[in-house]
Order: sequence, then C-alpha cells, then structure tokens
Amino acid sequence: MMTEKNKIGIFDSGIGGLTVLYQALKILPDEDYLYYADTKHVPYGEKSKAEVKKYVFEAVDFMVKKNVQAIVIACNTATGAAADDVRKAYNIPILGIEPAVKPALEIGQRPGKRVLVLATRLTLQQDRYHQLVARLDSDHIADGVPLPGLVEFAEKFQFDEKVVLPYLTRAFSGLDLNQYSTVVLGCTHFPLFKDMLQKLFPAQTAIIDGSVGTVKNLKRTLERRQALLHTGSGAIEYYLSGVKVEDEKKVQQYSQLFDRLNRIL
Ligand code: DGL
Repeated sequence: MMTEKNKIGIFDSGIGGLTVLYQALKILPDEDYLYYADTKHVPYGEKSKAEVKKYVFEAVDFMVKKNVQAIVIACNTATGAAADDVRKAYNIPILGIEPAVKPALEIGQRPGKRVLVLATRLTLQQDRYHQLVARLDSDHIADGVPLPGLVEFAEKFQFDEKVVLPYLTRAFSGLDLNQYSTVVLGCTHFPLFKDMLQKLFPAQTAIIDGSVGTVKNLKRTLERRQALLHTGSGAIEYYLSGVKVEDEKKVQQYSQLFDRLNRIL
C-alpha cells in the first residue's frame, strides 16, 4: 500500500488523455504517472453535463485515494463540466484543459480568415465555451464543429485513413476549409488524427491544441509547491474506470499510440 504522494494522475474519458500524458513524459520525464481512462462511460461528449460531473467526481476520488500528488483532467469535456467543482472539493492541485481558442484567435487574426474549433458536442454546448468565445471572439470569426466519430475511432484504435478521412470529409462538407487560418483541436482524442486533418486543410493552416500548455502549467504549479519529485522514471500505471490494467498487450497498445504521436506531431 503506497502512502506517500508519488504520482501524477492523468484522467480522460478514454485514451484521448494519452496525448497529454505524451507531452508530460517529455516535459516531466522524472515523475511517475497514474493514467485513468473512464472507458466504462466514454464518450463524455454525448452525455449531459450532470452525468459527466458525476463520473469526474468518481475518477478524481479514486485517484486521490491512490495518493496522487496532482491531477490533470486531460479532457476538455470533463474540464468544462466539472473542473471548478472538483477543485473546491479536494485540496491537491487539479488542472484542466480547455480548447485553445485564445491562442487561435491571436494567430488567426488574418484578414478574411477564420478559426475552426473542433471539440465534442458537450464542450461546444457548455456555457463555459460560449463565455470564452463571447469574451475573445469580438469579430465572430470562430466556428465550432463536433466530431464524435473521432472519439469512437480512437477508442477502437481505428486509425485507417480509408475509414477516417471519408468521415471527416462528410463532417466538413458544409464548410470552405480554405477560409481557416487556424484549427483548434478542442478534444484530447483529436491530436491522434492530426496527420489526416492536415491533409484536408491548406498547408499554411495551423492546427493547435492545449496539451503542451497544460503540462507547462502543471510543471509551474508543482515547482511552485516544490512538489516535483525527480525520483520517477516516467513509469505509468493504467486504470480503466477504477480497474488496474494488468494485461501487457493492452499496455503495449497504449505505447503504440505514443509511437503514433511521435510520428505525426
Ligand atoms: N477527450 C475528451 C475531450 O477532450 C472527450 C471525449 C469524449 O469522451 O467524448 O473532450
């Protein structure tokens, strides 16, 4: 039974948060990690805010009991639905991730050009997102498109272009993709498809996400609290909705996703 706080908890509805863990392993390689995928309840993006909030509390509670020193909610949908509430309920640092609308609007300020925010349905519906856009997008240049299919594909480890590209083409069929200077990946599952998205937009379109910013924020937070341990080795314990992953094959599948990210990011 471990008693000392010796891990960073990273949490998502499924495997999307591995795109954040991937950056954490690069920026904070000397820490150890607990990765929690709520695969019993994925996709969060198609559920109500109240349901997602309940699941986030269950996951955070589980990780706190495992003595993590900090938690990253590596899910835009869960952050929007519950980050403020879980922060009030626990006294360890709890960080979140939000669609990178602000940097996108800064980069995106090119005459006649627009910004495309890709996220889950629930993220795009939430007040938090509407408030963010209302505050920052005074010229009304941001459009939001939900892509629930990408979450499904990722959970099935389906990265075959022949399957994914037709879905994306259909999802974007009403849009002129040449008008976008910046695309925001506002769901942590989406960087896993960056190579395919890149094929659909002009070469000069920037495709950005908040994962590096979130991990830098985690680093700053832990440094401030002198809580970085520097005694780890990037070891990862995986849990699926509270059940430890013991199957080596499953763990290997996750490492293959890191290899995929290495190739495409
Ligand atoms: N990966 C999650 C996000 O960043 C959501 C995926 C889902 O469960 O719908 O929003």
